[in-house]
Amino acid sequence: MTAGRLRFEGYDPDDEGRREALCTLGNGYFATRGAAPESVADDVHYPGTYLAGCFNRLTTDVAGHRLEDESIVNAPNWLPLTFRIDQGPWFALDHVEIFDAEQELDLQRGILVRRLRFRDQHQRTTRLVQHRLVHLAHPHLAGLHTSLQPEDWSGAITVRSGLDGAVANTGVARYRDLAAHHLVDHHVTEASPDLAVLDVLTSQSRVRIAVAQRNRLLIDGTPHQAPTTDLGDKRVDHEFTCEITPDAQVQVEKIVSLHTSRDAASTEPVSEAVDSARDAPEFDELCRTQAVAWARLHRYFSTATSLSEPARRTLALHRFHLLQTVSPNSTDLDVGLPARGLHGEAYCGHVFWDELFVLPVLDLRLPQLSRALLRYRYRRLPRARGAARHAGLDGAMFPWQSGSNGREESQSWHLNPRSGRWLPDHTHLQRHVGLAIAHSARHHHLATGDDDYLNDEGAELICEITRFFSSLATYDRSIDRYVIRGVVGPDEYHTAYPGNDAPGIDNNAYTNVMTAWLCATATQLLRELPDQRRRELTDQIDLRHNEIDRWDRLAHRMFVPFHDRGVLSQFEGYHQLTELDWDAYRRRYGDIQRLDRILEAEGDDPNRYQVSKQADVLMLFYLLSAEELDEVLGRLGYPMVDIPANVEHYLARTSHGSTLSAVVHAWVLARGNRRRALEFFEDALVSDLHDTQHGTTAEGIHLAAMTGTLDLVQRCFTGIEIRPDGLHLNPQWPTELGPLELTVRYHGQPLTIRVSGRAVAVRTAPEPPAPTVTCVCGPHRAHLRPGETARFSMDATPATDSAGEPL
Ligand code: BGC
Repeated sequence: MTAGRLRFEGYDPDDEGRREALCTLGNGYFATRGAAPESVADDVHYPGTYLAGCFNRLTTDVAGHRLEDESIVNAPNWLPLTFRIDQGPWFALDHVEIFDAEQELDLQRGILVRRLRFRDQHQRTTRLVQHRLVHLAHPHLAGLHTSLQPEDWSGAITVRSGLDGAVANTGVARYRDLAAHHLVDHHVTEASPDLAVLDVLTSQSRVRIAVAQRNRLLIDGTPHQAPTTDLGDKRVDHEFTCEITPDAQVQVEKIVSLHTSRDAASTEPVSEAVDSARDAPEFDELCRTQAVAWARLHRYFSTATSLSEPARRTLALHRFHLLQTVSPNSTDLDVGLPARGLHGEAYCGHVFWDELFVLPVLDLRLPQLSRALLRYRYRRLPRARGAARHAGLDGAMFPWQSGSNGREESQSWHLNPRSGRWLPDHTHLQRHVGLAIAHSARHHHLATGDDDYLNDEGAELICEITRFFSSLATYDRSIDRYVIRGVVGPDEYHTAYPGNDAPGIDNNAYTNVMTAWLCATATQLLRELPDQRRRELTDQIDLRHNEIDRWDRLAHRMFVPFHDRGVLSQFEGYHQLTELDWDAYRRRYGDIQRLDRILEAEGDDPNRYQVSKQADVLMLFYLLSAEELDEVLGRLGYPMVDIPANVEHYLARTSHGSTLSAVVHAWVLARGNRRRALEFFEDALVSDLHDTQHGTTAEGIHLAAMTGTLDLVQRCFTGIEIRPDGLHLNPQWPTELGPLELTVRYHGQPLTIRVSGRAVAVRTAPEPPAPTVTCVCGPHRAHLRPGETARFSMDATPATDSAGEPL
């Protein structure tokens, strides 16, 4: 990477999948992988286009089971553009001799550039330059601009540019036994000589998708005559033929529009797509406005650090992919946060608990976006209530994997690619997803101070989730405590006790402690709601006094398993499991990130061992500050845990089979072991860039790990913590890394925070009217009016002064 650019040189078929994912262009409404326009889906290339929130369900009979899967839909491919010389073969990368090849993603402007110089079978050398964009400010528009220049030949060139609806979801090898054809009812139409449309229907969800293209060809800047249109069964092409010579340049401008029957302000998608493509500006103008729109969006994320150049560039890449997946265009869309971005088909585009790692970043930068993502959950509250009821429980049980309507979308069987066996999948028992949603809703309110959010949606969401966990917990008379049995914790390797047919483990420490936290938080929140709203809410959801009393009891009497003084047991019985010989496995397999697959392929079972896929107990130290955890445990009558001992214990037993693990470990080590923390930070930084999970990046980026690295800088290293009584700062930024400055939005106001070592300065924006902001640093507290600066040091008393002075 160079400043603001991700560059790939040469052409490497084995690496093409990773490049396509990392060069994806998107705008929060849709995204398209960085595949070569002339390519079709095969073992090397995968040109996928995904519309945010566009899912479809298909049924497959596999390994004796009937499976219904919901997947994000691979929409018609708008990229196709190829050419041939004198009736020769159509250009394909794999059939020419490549001299120079370069792909460059401009993160500042959201433009992907490809430069090629190649020689074909007839020894003709040609240069090709392509610019591509998916427009941030016109979310239905995309464009591809191609320049072709012969170096040493003259002749007739035919350019074909099309829309291809004969696509399927075949991007992930281990899903290839599953039904993949989501698109039916293809229609192609010529709207005018240079404008053609393809429309399709998703087979089950009945979303109509229309894609229109407008093509024009110019020779040395002069427009050529209109193309001929070839209407196929499932695709439509425009073709131009012209003569060229070495001193001439052919340019093809392809403008595409994409609309669906889910859009707002729309009559029906075909005519909308035709209107958009016809009225769209030319490519140069789209580039100009694209740069303006991206510059504006980047400003919300302003951060200046003296981190190493590569780290800063990678953080910029992560921010770019976050904002391509969810952007201001998403706020109206009723979409959740897809774990793998809109960059591939891994996990079928589903929404997991990953928003827990993303919303805190957005809360402090683009709070209206995090509110929209939380609304995705709120809208699915009725279904979550139904799921709880169906399970004989109260409140709202959110699914581990969510898609269109909030039904549980986790696979009931999954394939271990290592053994080739289909296995029952019990990971849907990760009930802790609800805790993550409640935590995010609470954080959103604390960060934004938006009481309307709390009154309109947040309090109801939090109470219904609390209700669910309260009914999930049962009272165990023998220990006089409440227990939660039969769940799966964030570590997905343990889905049952060894040799036990019944799925689930008991008393996952993370789930139980967070349940106690949630019960205390919900009761407190109800106390804080204005009287009238509290009465309305309790009437609305029929919340009884005895329920609230039970929450209070849970906050005081949840059971938490310990296995040693100060060390939590991941779940009851974890420490009695067999210890794995980690060195032997490392020697035998090298990469043991997916130990679950290795063990199963050996005929063994990860449930037998003290091995964790990712942070589980340690999630507690990620979500709760030491003070908060102390408070939760103290209320329960337990002593505070020994954080370093827990970190050391579980670090030695974790395979980091999820990219989330590195983020959490960097976070929890940041204060105690900076060197190790920076190593995990580095691991998280390169996890997609270097595809450290060997092949998974090609199937989609890991959005939570990417965003988690932004949050390590934003909240962890700065020590920003949002608490009910204000913005707490506990800076821990290595002095040798120079100052860190970022502008966040807290309670609706921009705050510029500058951290150096253990010192921090916070400046409010000078313009009134803005409310007073309370900042707390150690024992010091300051109330800042507009334009004021407070300076703190962990070792000295604070100073507040009025506006204008540089921090
Ligand atoms: C992790 C989950 C995560 C999911 C989606 C899995 O590998 O174990 O914690 O939610 O990926 O990112």
